[in-house]
Amino acid sequence: MNEHLDEHYSRLANTYDTTWEHRPDYLEWMAGKIMDSLRPLPGERVADIGVGTGLFVERLMACATGDAPVLAVDPSQPMLDKLPQDPRVRTVRATAEELVDGRGGFTPEPLDAILIKEAVHHFSDLDRTLSGLAALLAPGGRVLVVTLPPKIDYPLFPAAIDRFAEGQPEPMDIALALRRAGLDVTASYERYSVEIQRDNWLELVRGRWMSVLSTFTDAELERGLQLIGEAHPQQRISFVETFAFVLGRLPDDA
Ligand SMILES: C[S@@+](CC[C@H](N)C(=O)[O-])C[C@H]1O[C@@H](n2cnc3c(N)ncnc32)[C@H](O)[C@@H]1O
Repeated sequence: MNEHLDEHYSRLANTYDTTWEHRPDYLEWMAGKIMDSLRPLPGERVADIGVGTGLFVERLMACATGDAPVLAVDPSQPMLDKLPQDPRVRTVRATAEELVDGRGGFTPEPLDAILIKEAVHHFSDLDRTLSGLAALLAPGGRVLVVTLPPKIDYPLFPAAIDRFAEGQPEPMDIALALRRAGLDVTASYERYSVEIQRDNWLELVRGRWMSVLSTFTDAELERGLQLIGEAHPQQRISFVETFAFVLGRLPDDA
């Protein structure tokens, strides 16, 4: 992980969960979609790559045991520090790239389910990293990538929307990479309607809650906030979040 990103997540770790706290309905919705798609079974070996503070780890933990804990993998120690202390969770401080290259100093046993939620855009080499993760799967194992597509409808300022798009992989490219790695792949889009107080939204943007916002200077961000304020004079802002769900499955006879 580069220094800039490391700083971003170190700074965000303390407020990351409160960012979403006002949206427990979103967390419940997203956790349900993840579980319906990934379908981890009791006793299966599960990894959450780019786990962050572990917003979805509790649901995954329900299937885990002390012998087969959820592998919570993330390069940011301050984010990992927020995870629940529980024998059913094993933290691994590593990037996905380090994990697949064995540079994390750790090689997992074959995995039955891998979740990558809003972290795939940080992978430096999408094809290589996804095929490396696919190689960690046991026969019948699944990998689920949940990601925002490049074009988002967030009420941000135009430069942030454009820069976000530049750094975000196309879901179709993720699907192709998983297919090339020998997995059977399905993809779908899931939509979630957000309604948020304008001031709350401006506060999130000012706090640079998305990593792309950390790439703007203070002055650029202030100008951006002004543009958002002008475009959204009303008290509440509504928009639709669209997530791509790309699911790959290694055939049973692989
Ligand atoms: C937007 S957060 C998502 C966290 C969590 N999955 C969630 O949905 O709440 C992205 C996470 O990816 C991690 N990350 C950054 N680069 C990574 C990489 N190369 N491999 C794996 N994780 C990475 C960051 O440290 C951060 O915790």
